[in-house]
This record gives sequence, structure tokens and C-alpha cells, in this order.
Amino acid sequence: MRRCVKCKEKASIYLPHHRLSLCSQHYVEWFEERVQRTIKQFGMMEKRDRVLVAVSGGKDSLSLWQVLHRLGYEADGLYIDLGIGDYSAKSKELCKKFSERIGRKLHIVDLSQELSTIPQIKQLDSRPACSFCGSIKRYYMNLYAKKLGYTVVATGHNLDDETAVLLSNVLSWNLQYLERQTPLLEEKDGFVRKVKPLCLLTERETALYAVVTNIDYIEEECPFAENATSIDYKKIMAQIEEKSPGTKLRFYLEFLRKVRPALSSGTQPVTLKPCSVCGEPTVGEICSLCRIRRKLSVKTQNITELPDPSP
Ligand code: AMP
Ligand code: FES
Ligand code: ZN
Ligand code: ZN
Repeated sequence: MRRCVKCKEKASIYLPHHRLSLCSQHYVEWFEERVQRTIKQFGMMEKRDRVLVAVSGGKDSLSLWQVLHRLGYEADGLYIDLGIGDYSAKSKELCKKFSERIGRKLHIVDLSQELSTIPQIKQLDSRPACSFCGSIKRYYMNLYAKKLGYTVVATGHNLDDETAVLLSNVLSWNLQYLERQTPLLEEKDGFVRKVKPLCLLTERETALYAVVTNIDYIEEECPFAENATSIDYKKIMAQIEEKSPGTKLRFYLEFLRKVRPALSSGTQPVTLKPCSVCGEPTVGEICSLCRIRRKLSVKTQNITELPDPSP
């Protein structure tokens, strides 16, 4: 029988890549300390920061919000209602319930009012929904953080998310994406600082934390995520990890330590300028959100210009 390394009681959790056995109570302590250490290690934020936690209703972002709150950060939530049927309705309710539980404010951005819902945008965009949805979410996270006076945006990306993206970027040697892959993106040119404090914790570890601390989270995946390639990369990484525990963590940390610094000194910095329509930072003339907005307005015009079928 495995025993908790802290109190010698019966362990309920074993973390193979740390060779660590813990009881539930000490697991919660270990998890929260690890988040605090990650914040310190990368210099992500200070107690004086005003943190906006982007919450999706899933285990990662709600766990992150709870940990930051318990660690004493001034952390409020931002939920972007993407209008994806029951999935969005349910996740919004869970975020609201959670904000009441911890007594922190939840800001809600309603995409149907700001732009249009993801299923509607999907009808006029041939790309997978997740790719334009990602840029829409990033746009509103940044916009609302600035509008509401927050100094940092925190997202719930975990080690599995980060290594899946890393693997995909390495396989295509996408140096520009690799250079931007970091758990801390400093405030710059109209972008608020962005941090990923769960980047050294696996999906399983976050799920365990959420279950042990009774967080009510949405278990379903977004219906558009079904064929996402990131799921394949996660499966491949999981197989390697199973055979050789610790690979994921090493892959990610060694990339940050050995490879990324060399990349950032060798690549041309991307020049950003204000979008000529909305003024938000972008690499081109018009930002991706305004391009979607333009496509939507063309479609609406086409619909209103159709002849009236009524006699
Ligand atoms: P995903 O891109 O769905 O893997 O989510 C990555 C992170 O983005 C989550 O951990 C959240 O921090 C944030 N996020 C995802 N969906 C939403 C949403 N609807 N509203 C606010 N934040 C979100
Ligand atoms: Fe954006 Fe699924 S959450 S498409
Ligand atoms: Zn213990
Ligand atoms: Zn714009």
C-alpha cells in the first residue's frame, strides 16, 4: 500500500512522473504550491496585479480561478458566451455558480451581441470553428481586460495542451509559433500580459484537483472540437508518457530553457499596429475579428437584398 509522503496516511493519489504519493488533503496543498511556484518561476504576476481569469466552465480554468483566489490574488472571471447551444448555456451556468461560490465577480461577454454566435460564423467560414473561435476569444479577453482595468489575463492551459501544441509546431517547424509559445507573454503594443499558471500541471492532475475540491465543471467537450488535430497529438504524447513518465514535462521545460531563447534572438520581431477599423493591435491592416465582421455584414446585406417572397 502506498502512503502519503507528508502524513503517512493511506495515499489516494500517485503521480508517476514525480514519484509522489499523496493523500487528498496533501494533494490539494501540493497542487496549489506548484501553481504558486510556477507563477514565481516565470515571474507571471504579483499580489498587486488585477487578474482576469478566462473561464470556460471546464476543469482547468475553474481550478485555476479557485487556486489564484485561495493564494490571495485579486482574481475575477471572464466568460465568453459563444452561443454554442446547450454546451454554452450549461458552461455559463457553471461559471456563474462557481463565481458565487468563491464570491468573486464574473464578467460575461455575449458574442451574439458583440459579433455573432460561433455556429452562425461557421456558416460563412470554411476553416474549422476552433481556429477562428480561438482568435475571437483572444480578441475579447484582451479587449475586456483593458476596458475593465485588469493587468493580467490568466488562462487554464495545462501541460497537455502546451505539449500538444509544441509537438504540432515542431513537426511543422513553425518558428514563428514556436517563438510565441511561452507561459508568459509580456504586456506589449496594446496587448495585456497573458499567463498560463497551470502549464506545468497535467490534465489528469487538474482533473484530480477539481474533483477533490468539489468543483462542478462541464465534462463535455465543445461539439466543434470532435475532429481537432490537437486531440491526436495529445493521444500520441499520452502514449509516450505512459512508457516513459516525465517526458511531457521534460519536453516542455527543455524547450523553454534551451530552444526558445535561441529562437527569440534569431527571428525578426513581429511589428504590430492598430487595426484600421477597430484600433486593436494586429499584424496586418485589418484585424481578424474585423475581417469576420466584414464577412458577416456582406452576408446580412445579401439576405436583406433578396426580393420579398410575400405577394
Ligand atoms: P481551449 O482553447 O478551449 O482549450 O481553452 C483554453 C483556455 O481558454 C481555457 O482554459 C480558458 O482559460 C480559456 N477559455 C476557453 N473558452 C473560454 C470561454 N468561452 N470564455 C472565456 N475563456 C475561455
Ligand atoms: Fe470554440 Fe469550440 S470552443 S469552437
Ligand atoms: Zn497526507
Ligand atoms: Zn479590428
